[in-house]
Amino acid sequence: MLRRRIFWTALGLLLFGVLAAACAPPGGSQKKEASGELNLLCTPQVEWCEGMKAEFEKKYPNITVNFVRMSSGESLTRLRNEKDNPQFDIWWGGPVDGQIAAKQEGLLEQYKTPAQDKIINKKLMLDPDGYWVGVYVGSLGFATNKDWSEKNGGWVPKSWDDLLDPRLKGELMVAHPSSSGTSYTALCTILQIKGEDEGWKFLKEYAGQVNQFTKSGSAPARFVGQGEAAVGVVFSHDIVKQIEDGMPLILSFPEEGTGYEIGGMGIIKGAKNLENAKLWYDWALQPETQELGPKYGAYQAPTVEGAKPSKPELLKVKLIDYDFEWCGQHKKEFVDRFTNEIAGAENLKK
Ligand code: G6P
Repeated sequence: MLRRRIFWTALGLLLFGVLAAACAPPGGSQKKEASGELNLLCTPQVEWCEGMKAEFEKKYPNITVNFVRMSSGESLTRLRNEKDNPQFDIWWGGPVDGQIAAKQEGLLEQYKTPAQDKIINKKLMLDPDGYWVGVYVGSLGFATNKDWSEKNGGWVPKSWDDLLDPRLKGELMVAHPSSSGTSYTALCTILQIKGEDEGWKFLKEYAGQVNQFTKSGSAPARFVGQGEAAVGVVFSHDIVKQIEDGMPLILSFPEEGTGYEIGGMGIIKGAKNLENAKLWYDWALQPETQELGPKYGAYQAPTVEGAKPSKPELLKVKLIDYDFEWCGQHKKEFVDRFTNEIAGAENLKK
């Protein structure tokens, strides 16, 4: 009798197990559908931020992305101020000098992921400690107003020294390096090309040519296109975007070499939506994600294998061997020196 009871109990348990396994979702474990919020600090141009939000929400329909578009320098200041109660979960974009400075100040989470295995140049685009990764690349260029150039015999700046030409007194436009990563990239490029002593002397004269510093890095391309100044120092992909939008601009590059950015990404230390931040981080490193840029007027080059650059010619110019670590580690020091000794950051043009 007892043997019979044991047999039927064992058979019942076996059948229950088979039934439970058959009903479990694929992949076995009860994977929770990603949901909730993601607070994104977004530094590239707002159209791209909006596009990336929409694309991410398409992939993860139960996650709502709340983003703020903020220039690189402003973003770093905000992260510093919120260190004890971070409002953002991930910082996407802006020259990686910003993320390197943020790492140095303990503002980023370490996150190593197989998604970074596709990075095309790990030495340049991947923090070995896993605090930041590169998500795009762009070169610095000069935007000259076409009408102004025609009135000046077709002249356009072809070197950094050309920016000191008397013709450009009060006619140069660039963002302020305290708010803008674009402008800080130009500052650190000049210091690397000319050396620190000569570089700071140059920066003093360069600032003297500026009629008004802007808050955001890409804004000078628009203002120069509107004829408010003759020349702007902006990333080349932003200049091409303005030209495609019909602005009368001529793109040129400094012959001695130009600086470039690696757009950076990092998860914020103490992120309240850490798992969703990791989903974004992995997604932003997929080739198909990095090929979305042109759909939103963003022509930066990708950083992962398998993603096709939309305007490869923008990187086929003479680039300096830009030292991201040096520029990132000295960002606060150099920005403070520029602001205190050369040009204040009051009254930035928006
Ligand atoms: C533009 C460029 C980006 C760059 C960003 C930096 O959006 O397209 O490639 O990273 O400016 O912004 P910021 O205002 O800090 O110069």
